[in-house]
Amino acid sequence: MKYCDHFGELCGALEGPGAFLTVMDKRGRVNIMTIGWAQAGVIWGLPVLTVLVRPSRHTHLFLSRASHFSVYAPATGMRAKELAFCGSRSGRDYDKVRVCAFTLKEGVKKDIRYPEGPGLVYQCGLLGGTKLSAGNLPAALRAKYYPSGDAHTMYFGKILKADKHLK
Ligand SMILES: Cc1cc2nc3c(=O)[nH]c(=O)nc-3n(C[C@H](O)[C@H](O)[C@H](O)COP(=O)(O)O)c2cc1C
Repeated sequence: MKYCDHFGELCGALEGPGAFLTVMDKRGRVNIMTIGWAQAGVIWGLPVLTVLVRPSRHTHLFLSRASHFSVYAPATGMRAKELAFCGSRSGRDYDKVRVCAFTLKEGVKKDIRYPEGPGLVYQCGLLGGTKLSAGNLPAALRAKYYPSGDAHTMYFGKILKADKHLK
């Protein structure tokens, strides 16, 4: 599929129970967290998926050293328990792959993994990250989302492959 196909489904997942962001570190360890914020579009003439990750997340450390990441938006109604778990527990304390009994698939690069199952999968090459300047946002958003700092880093991923898996 083209990276922008099924955009509505991706947004449905992000607005709903979320999607899985999976990152592998240089030692082959994999961490998965739930995301509700992401953007797909065109930057630098490239198809880009941007994810927003707070510095306090264990995933942030993984991404700061990674070359790739993946985003998996499960088909509607699937993986609700795992999305809740990966969105409330840290990889510092749990091996989430083991606890959730994910079967991981290897992607187009040897350090790309994503959980098996029906839904949308985006495999991305990390182009870089930039810290969001919360100071530039309207006061209401600052107060709601950044009362104690911890402003997200925006990580830009060039979409290498986008697929809709039926099973
Ligand atoms: C539905 C949902 C959406 C979330 N979206 C994000 C997000 O976009 N960015 C973020 O930094 N944290 C987000 N979180 C919180 C992280 O998933 C959560 O803090 C997680 O435990 C971090 O795991 P880690 O420490 O292993 O990286 C979300 C949580 C839920 C439940």
